[in-house]
Amino acid sequence: TTPILKYFSNKKFFRMTLIDGKKTAAEIKQEIAAEVARMTADGKRAPHLAAILVGHDGGSETYVANKVKACGECGFTSSLIRFEEDVTEERLIEEITRLNDDQSVDGFIVQLPLPRHIDEQNIIRAIDPSKDVDGFHPINVGRMSIGLPGFVSATPAGIMQLLKRYGVETKGKHAVVLGRSNIVGKPMATLLMQKSNPGNCTVTVCHSATPNIKEICLNADIIVAALGQPGFVTADMVKPGATIIDVGTTRVEDASRKSGWRLRGDVDFENVAEKCEFITPVPGGVGPMTICSLMINTLQACKDNPYK
Ligand code: GUN
Repeated sequence: TTPILKYFSNKKFFRMTLIDGKKTAAEIKQEIAAEVARMTADGKRAPHLAAILVGHDGGSETYVANKVKACGECGFTSSLIRFEEDVTEERLIEEITRLNDDQSVDGFIVQLPLPRHIDEQNIIRAIDPSKDVDGFHPINVGRMSIGLPGFVSATPAGIMQLLKRYGVETKGKHAVVLGRSNIVGKPMATLLMQKSNPGNCTVTVCHSATPNIKEICLNADIIVAALGQPGFVTADMVKPGATIIDVGTTRVEDASRKSGWRLRGDVDFENVAEKCEFITPVPGGVGPMTICSLMINTLQACKDNPYK
């Protein structure tokens, strides 16, 4: 951990620690690669992740390319299956059924969002839960919610890894989750309230209909910001010594960059950081951990599948 500055409040020193997701993810990927090397030395085949990508959305293209790259770093086999924007739901489900039955594939994902003419929930339900390494299938969501082994959604799982590896104390703490998406907010709240370590938090979930978000945040020991509003969490919403996890990744205009944009989180990092005990940056915080969790889930699907 890297303490970078100190904050003095109520006669208490806080050593602010920047949570380095990029470094942690690189360490975990090395651990996975070592495990895969042991497996192949034992004559087993390497884990195999397949990804279905529909259309040519810039964000999705980048995410999937990063997932394929991470597979390479971990020694996994990967397959990328592409469809054009106008693919039918039927055709996608046919492909999912083929992957469900393909014994050489341990896990697969369908990159979201999908075009509007396709019902996302129909697609997710078509995936065999034992290969659903995104943890989006209702069976995996239900298993996580009652504490049974299964696949857990990658972003919240990555955040739990960061809390664990940085020794953030969570037991008895008040955690506030901003956002209620199926992919991040809801599973995050579920994991933080679980009787586990990390976990054992008292959890409040805030969303677009919550009137007093600032007041609730001021009471938080841990804030997980996942609402997709750049700079939403400001310094006047943060209790000194809090832990701040920033899940936001909005592209904002930046003329000083060659691309014309940069990623901005849901937290006003510049002003919030000095008040925190722990904080994640954007980029380089939660983002790299999300892909890492997908690798952990894929290794588990291959080596130690909770359904087999
Ligand atoms: N779109 C945004 N996040 C995710 C993710 O974790 N998995 C998939 N499949 N699509 C996403």
